[in-house]
Amino acid sequence: MNLIGIVGTNAPTSTNRQLLQYMQRHFKNQATITIQEIADFPAFDEPEDHRAPVGIAELSAAIAAADGVIIATPEYDHSIPAALKSLLEWLSYTDRPLIDKPVLVVGASYGALGTSRAQGHLRQILDAPELKARLMPGAEFLLAHSQQAFTADGDLAKPEDAAALDEYVAQFLEFVEITKQLLKGRSVQTQQHKQFAWDK
Ligand SMILES: Cc1cc2nc3c(=O)[nH]c(=O)nc-3n(C[C@H](O)[C@H](O)[C@H](O)COP(=O)(O)O)c2cc1C
Repeated sequence: MNLIGIVGTNAPTSTNRQLLQYMQRHFKNQATITIQEIADFPAFDEPEDHRAPVGIAELSAAIAAADGVIIATPEYDHSIPAALKSLLEWLSYTDRPLIDKPVLVVGASYGALGTSRAQGHLRQILDAPELKARLMPGAEFLLAHSQQAFTADGDLAKPEDAAALDEYVAQFLEFVEITKQLLKGRSVQTQQHKQFAWDK
């Protein structure tokens, strides 16, 4: 199982990056998680040729080849950071690699609600026809007070957080397999979505 873990921020220090690093280590026997930074990507600017900058095109190819994607989002002003929104705009405007791709949303924030509002927005965005990710329904993982959530070794400090994440990821690994089965033979619909354009 090959997964891409997107750090949903361009901040140099990030508890969401720590969360993905923990997941990469902790779940290494179940999945290979490749961590993807977004800090060097330019802000989306709607180029007329619909071509992504090199780094984003490489990420699109990696997503297309992966079994699934994990997005770890902070919460800024009750939504996702602009850098993450910009990446999603690039993906939706260019190669659209998230169409029918199983996606797991996680999030860590300093507040008590652990990105619940940002995750709600992110799910809404990922459901846009040009993104059309296959989001795992019916469960969420919210890491509240994230500055206190990790030990010095980078493990989750609270056993209940670790147990909740174990359960969440186990569900996702099953969801990836189920989604693959469900989508067999659905390439026509995928092509329609890939060809959709706002500027026709
Ligand atoms: C501009 C700004 C807005 C923020 N808004 C929220 C918010 O609405 N809710 C929240 O829980 N934390 C908020 N925070 C605190 C973030 O949770 C924290 O800065 C951080 O982004 C958590 O993710 P990170 O450690 O990966 O950077 C905000 C921080 C900034 C800089």
